[in-house]
Amino acid sequence: MTISFEGRVAIVTGAGGGLGRAYALELARRGAKVVVNDLGGSRDGTGHSDAALAVVAEIEAAGGTAMSDGGSVTDFGHMQAMVEKAKAAWGGVHILINNAGILRDKSFAKMEIGDFRTVVDVHLIGSANCTKAVWEIMKAQAYGRIVVTTSSTGLYGNFGQTNYGAAKLSLVGFMNSLKLEGARDNIKVNAICPVAATRMTEALMPPAILEMLKPEFVSPAVAYLASDDAPTGVILTAAAGVYAAAQLVETDGVNLGHGATADDIAAHFGEICDWTTAKHYGQGGEQNAKFLARVQEKPVLG
Ligand code: NAI
Repeated sequence: MTISFEGRVAIVTGAGGGLGRAYALELARRGAKVVVNDLGGSRDGTGHSDAALAVVAEIEAAGGTAMSDGGSVTDFGHMQAMVEKAKAAWGGVHILINNAGILRDKSFAKMEIGDFRTVVDVHLIGSANCTKAVWEIMKAQAYGRIVVTTSSTGLYGNFGQTNYGAAKLSLVGFMNSLKLEGARDNIKVNAICPVAATRMTEALMPPAILEMLKPEFVSPAVAYLASDDAPTGVILTAAAGVYAAAQLVETDGVNLGHGATADDIAAHFGEICDWTTAKHYGQGGEQNAKFLARVQEKPVLG
């Protein structure tokens, strides 16, 4: 076992079940002291239970160290208190896995705006709350590993999940800027894009497929993103033992010139969408530099 979390303190949100539980067990197995956070609500985020306590017991039974936290990631004050408690007990916080999540699926036509807001609140604001609560500690330590959780719905879409998809891709935007702000202090920020059989997905797939999608098959990807040698700004997708990377890319484009009209864009749309020229940019300024470089060239029109 080469990757070790000995001496590291990790917080995993939403770790009372599903993927978060698997992540917490894996980090603890490799030596991390783990805060198991979970509100213990139902799939839509309502209700409350002691789900986190059972996972703490599992970690302790396996010889690991853990503490439970039953607060909601949407409660910034509580997340600050949770972080302070971990720091006071164990001396720091080195790893944050922003995993807590809920679903309120409906076609956009039928969706209440309140259900849109609640989903964004748990996934996006919840991740921002927890990250804000650990940020100064990680900066002062000059060490931090933060993982946010995106999804195929965020990256590519899924009918009935406009709220969830918007919330999940927003975390990639969060990561893209945070990786720049953390770079100087050795804080690495990455995104996991899992597929796993949990209560979130159990109704969607037949049992034989669910058997191939154990949450334990995603944990190695999260452990890697939480490790000393983690990359930064990467979207790692993981399911069933298959691991891949996803990226936002942009084509090189076409310089149509200042007089270009909507009709000219229609006429050149194929070239504009020439994906063989596509690149990923490490930050927004690199896209701006592309525009300024392309504008030096002779325009295609007039
Ligand atoms: P899950 O429902 O089993 O686990 C989510 C956990 O988050 C639950 O234990 C729940 O109590 C907890 N939680 C919900 N709201 C909370 C809050 N406000 N504060 C603290 N804890 C809260 O679902 P699963 O599948 O394990 O999902 C984990 C993460 O992975 C979520 O962010 C989900 O969106 C994401 N994801 C899951 C996929 C899958 O195939 N299962 C696919 C893509 C993303």
